[in-house]
Amino acid sequence: MTALSAQEFVRSLDAENQERLGRLAPDATLKPEVEGDLTVVNLLKVALKNEVEATEIAARWLVATDDVDVKLAFARQVGDEAKHYRLIAERLHALGVVAAFDPLAKGYGPLFTYLDSLGTTVERVAAGQFTREAIAVVKNRQFIEFCEAAGDRETAALYRDVIEPDERYHHDLGRRLLLRLATSADAQDAARRAARRTLELADELQQKALATAGIHHAPGC
Ligand SMILES: [Fe+2]
Ligand SMILES: [Fe+2]
Repeated sequence: MTALSAQEFVRSLDAENQERLGRLAPDATLKPEVEGDLTVVNLLKVALKNEVEATEIAARWLVATDDVDVKLAFARQVGDEAKHYRLIAERLHALGVVAAFDPLAKGYGPLFTYLDSLGTTVERVAAGQFTREAIAVVKNRQFIEFCEAAGDRETAALYRDVIEPDERYHHDLGRRLLLRLATSADAQDAARRAARRTLELADELQQKALATAGIHHAPGC
């Protein structure tokens, strides 16, 4: 297979991602449930786990590369995801959750485990930044609508004004690095596979959360 130009490749990966992301939109209505697990508080607890996992995976990748641009992109992400964690924890506290809560008490999730298995920078950037952060943007948009429908304007504002712009920036970091790294047919193949698997896992996880806990609109990171 011959390689596309990096620009053509990133454009086509983006189009493929966006097409698949359309399927991540839940069918269920946005009306918050009065009973059950679907509350802003419970969704914010899911968010805490996502943020700590995103912090750690970026930290692992930061020390695993000698490329200074890549190091700094992951470093930026580590700081932002840790900041999101703190802001969400503070919001939970303001919402009355005062008991200690360990989001990793049940261990790391399948997406973290998959991302941790990726061995090259181009795959990591394609999966962990370019794709996962595009998923986060979509999921956060849904979560913002959910918060507004639930009458929680403060959580909606936190996501709209602080968290979402950062996640968009992480996606853009991924785009910039891919433009530099996805230049050979092999690199493009690996990047595309990693992006696809990330979207599949996100989709599977969402189906599972919906089936087992009735959770949809969980925010991403
Ligand atoms: Fe992020
Ligand atoms: Fe985040």
